[in-house]
Amino acid sequence: MHKRLLIPGPTEVSAEMLREQVRFMIGHRSKEFTELYTGIIEKLKRFFQLPNDYKAAVTTSSGTLWFDIVGRSIVKEKALVCANGAFSERFGKAIEDCGKKVDFLKAEWGKAIKPDMIAEKLGSEEYDTLALCHNETSTGVRNPIYEIGKMVRREYPSVMIAIDSISGMVGDKTLPSEIGCDVIFASTQKCFAIPPGLAVGFVSDRILERAREVPNRGLYTNLVRIFDYYEKKHQTPFTPNIPLLYALDKRMRLLLEETHEGVYQRHKTMAEYTQKWAKKHFALFAESGYESITVTCVKNTLGKSVKELNEKLEERHLMISNGYGRLAEQTFRIGHMGEWDLAGIKEALWHIDDIWGLEK
Ligand SMILES: Cc1ncc(COP(=O)(O)O)c(C=O)c1O
Repeated sequence: MHKRLLIPGPTEVSAEMLREQVRFMIGHRSKEFTELYTGIIEKLKRFFQLPNDYKAAVTTSSGTLWFDIVGRSIVKEKALVCANGAFSERFGKAIEDCGKKVDFLKAEWGKAIKPDMIAEKLGSEEYDTLALCHNETSTGVRNPIYEIGKMVRREYPSVMIAIDSISGMVGDKTLPSEIGCDVIFASTQKCFAIPPGLAVGFVSDRILERAREVPNRGLYTNLVRIFDYYEKKHQTPFTPNIPLLYALDKRMRLLLEETHEGVYQRHKTMAEYTQKWAKKHFALFAESGYESITVTCVKNTLGKSVKELNEKLEERHLMISNGYGRLAEQTFRIGHMGEWDLAGIKEALWHIDDIWGLEK
């Protein structure tokens, strides 16, 4: 039985988008492929308003590949990693596993990382890279990346800023040059609302120059190779997932019609409604003022069983998510991203009210 996914990824994918993938195969060194891929890159550049000193790429991988790209191709010696949840902790661990030094700037799960916390740490030691997560899917916290970017560019201009916006990009405002970041990336199964298997990344020219100086970049994780290949051939260095690229091309056409601002406003409306609902019956896990606009993490103050809820929701073709990792019992999460709209969210929350007997 199909369940509409209100989990924070993979999110719901429409039949229209699924059908986009069903086409005869083309060679990835053909003219048709170059047209498809350059078309996607151009659309990404338009949607994310990339100036000339930024570039876009799509990798056939989930978003996590970009943790390794940062670890292998970007960090020269030592990174400062902001960790306030499961994914940002993993980001730091990945960089360490690539053989680079890492210092963690930790905040309690549920709290945001603020520019002054970063400024203090960057001022105390030599770091070449700052890594952080925009939208901590495990806690529903949205870190203030615009303020952080501005501060770091102003006070520590040689530090490269690497951002995991895997569950934020598209739904939330993520304009790389306005943030002032050097690399930002996302997976397609989140707000792009197509199936998992691709990741989108944006890089600044200056980070590409840095990457050229970093030894042992690996093969699949070699940022320079990805962009040099595109420069030369307008294709990907390795065989990409062509069916997913068809879907991404269509998604980018739809997103451009809706506009970056329009998509953001739709997500903001869904988030505000869900947050209000959560506060009426439970409480929010995220620090006030730093709530994600793509996933709401609810403190399960009533001790409800999410497993039992999901069993009942299944009959109504819906599914939400329990808490992540060590927050599994204390919280549950509602992902309002991708193709969802306010009417859909209202209906889904009505069903939860109905099953749990909450006041409507
Ligand atoms: C913030 C964040 N980072 C990283 C990941 C891992 O992404 P992927 O599974 O696409 O590799 C996720 C997935 O949920 C995420 O939400």
